[in-house]
Amino acid sequence: MQKVNISEHVYWVGVNDRRTTLFENMWPLCKGVCYNSYIINDEKVALVDTVEVSATDEYLEKLESIIGPERQVDYLIINHMEPDHSGAVKFIRQKYPDCKIVGNKKTFEMLEKFYGINTNLHEVKDMDEIDLGGRKLRFYMTPMLHWPETMMTYDLKDKVLFSGDAFGSFGTLDGGVFDDELNLDFYEDEIRRYYSNIVGKFAKFVQKALKKLADVDINYICATHGPIWRSHIDKILSDYDRWSRYQTEEGVVIVYGTMYGNTEQMADVIARELVVHGIKNVRIYDCAKTHASYIISEIYKYKGVILGSCAYNNDMFPSMDALIRKIENSEIKEHLLGVFGSFAWGGGGVKRLNEFAKNIDWEVVSDSVEQKGGMHDISFDRCISLAQNMAHRLKQLREEEVPA
Ligand code: FEO
Repeated sequence: MQKVNISEHVYWVGVNDRRTTLFENMWPLCKGVCYNSYIINDEKVALVDTVEVSATDEYLEKLESIIGPERQVDYLIINHMEPDHSGAVKFIRQKYPDCKIVGNKKTFEMLEKFYGINTNLHEVKDMDEIDLGGRKLRFYMTPMLHWPETMMTYDLKDKVLFSGDAFGSFGTLDGGVFDDELNLDFYEDEIRRYYSNIVGKFAKFVQKALKKLADVDINYICATHGPIWRSHIDKILSDYDRWSRYQTEEGVVIVYGTMYGNTEQMADVIARELVVHGIKNVRIYDCAKTHASYIISEIYKYKGVILGSCAYNNDMFPSMDALIRKIENSEIKEHLLGVFGSFAWGGGGVKRLNEFAKNIDWEVVSDSVEQKGGMHDISFDRCISLAQNMAHRLKQLREEEVPA
């Protein structure tokens, strides 16, 4: 493989994974994923994070092609212990037994529990530095991005921020490694899907990290997944700022769970009325068909959410139940909510959605709509009313945003 230089002595040594279907055994990888690792090959050799264990052979070959067969790795810096990045640590230790592992107290607790490694460690705290000989690395503790041990490493010489999962993305690097070598449109949704499902729950820690990094002069952001940022650093920083403040666009995500189409029909009526009232961004999803991660990502984009469920054995449709649990777990804030659904005999779907509405700190824009069987005049009118109330609130918010 060609060597990928970030600067004269800093290299990308990541690998692509086009085989795994579910990241963390949960999140579909429709565009694959890459595990980025980086090596600083200067007076001393420092490796920043590793890769998922299945790619170890390819990874070790890449490393050796850069540092040569004789040089040793002096430092292995672990910014994040999740096994998609720490999977090759024990193999690095085997091949380079003298390498010192750099991490924080929590890193080392995990390192021992995961891999039984507890020797030749160098513990760092916030703002500590190590000297690679003419090049210093500084460590920023950024806990809960998205695990307790997560930290970032900053190369003061080339102004490279190795950021761990933060600012990362799903999607393989198909030839292009840097943000200006590729069409970012390919990654746009996957960057947000990655943020919203992996990092988003920890929004207040994102804000803390952004404040900590505010005065750091950054030429490159090297995350553990996705493209290296060098030409669009402001964009990714501002995306993270916006998302972690729950700032959204005008639009509505309608999600329904249906068995025979009655709840879906309600969704279509609501969607049409929203558009008639000037809401241009309306997205409808069948929660049994579209994985929750894509829906969560859309919810991070749009202010309005309207959820509909049929009844299933006196309860909510199971796929909708899974979705609202994921929404609750993600602690998403600052949304407008509407609820609808249908039933044939016992009900249960709308009842559970109303419980969800009561428990989540979102603004409910309208009474819920529940119909027995198929669409009829009363439920049609109530769907229209729900849509109009949602459109009205969105327009109010739009007007509040316009400067006087
Ligand atoms: Fe990419 Fe949290 O590991």
